[in-house]
Amino acid sequence: MSAASNRDEQIRLLREKLAQAKSAAVLTGAGISAESGVPTFRGKDGLWKQYQATELATPEAFARNPRLVWEFYNWRREILKPLAPNPGHTALVELEKRIPRFTLITQNIDGLHHAAGSEKVMELHGNIWYVRCTGCGRVTEDRTVPLPERPSCGSCGALLRPHVVWFGEMLDPAILESAYEALQFTQVMLVVGTSGVVQPAASMGLNAKQQGAFVVEINLEATPYTGVYDLSIQGKSGEILPLLL
Ligand code: OAD
Repeated sequence: MSAASNRDEQIRLLREKLAQAKSAAVLTGAGISAESGVPTFRGKDGLWKQYQATELATPEAFARNPRLVWEFYNWRREILKPLAPNPGHTALVELEKRIPRFTLITQNIDGLHHAAGSEKVMELHGNIWYVRCTGCGRVTEDRTVPLPERPSCGSCGALLRPHVVWFGEMLDPAILESAYEALQFTQVMLVVGTSGVVQPAASMGLNAKQQGAFVVEINLEATPYTGVYDLSIQGKSGEILPLLL
């Protein structure tokens, strides 16, 4: 931890860095959406505490039982549908307007950054509001809740799947490349509400730091990177991010 151990002092220092920055990158995880009511994955009531990821979020699970996987995603869509962005998402919209080269990278599939008004969002793990055809590969937005048990493609009739990245799958190389490019030039990076255990997102903060960025974590709890980054600010992102403006 840096000399700025007091939270107000940390926030003041970060605000100053952001005010001077010509470029900034933000990586978000499930924690930024927690205050909107979105369940996280690894907390006390986290999604992967209640469900076996390998039974539901892998290509093998989908091949074995597409109905069960769709039931899970329909349930998640139902939870997400009424939820709205919180002040953490909104503060990032404002930062995007203020900082000339601003990059928002998210691991979240909930679409809340878009809903808040962020213009450019790199969605590393896809978006739950999009479906992808397992036959022709067409990707379309579909906000119907619930989708049929075995939804099919409007153009070729093949089975649709959620347009999200499952365990064991590759991330979109074009999105990854743009993210890494941004990390090369960013002067300040915020790592917000992520437990830092799922690669490659987990090491993006370190990657930016090694390339000279001032990297700050904002999280309710300590993570494997606390003490490694330049600052670790403990608290709710919906409270801390607005204070940076
Ligand atoms: P996790 O559930 O692993 O971690 C959520 C983090 O947010 C934890 O470190 C919490 O301490 C923190 N947190 C919770 N509420 C917060 C708040 N109000 N303000 C700030 N921080 C808060 O979620 P992720 O790190 O996003 O991947 O998980 C990464 C990936 O694992 C997900 O994208 C998903 C999952 O498996 C796929 O599905 C491919």
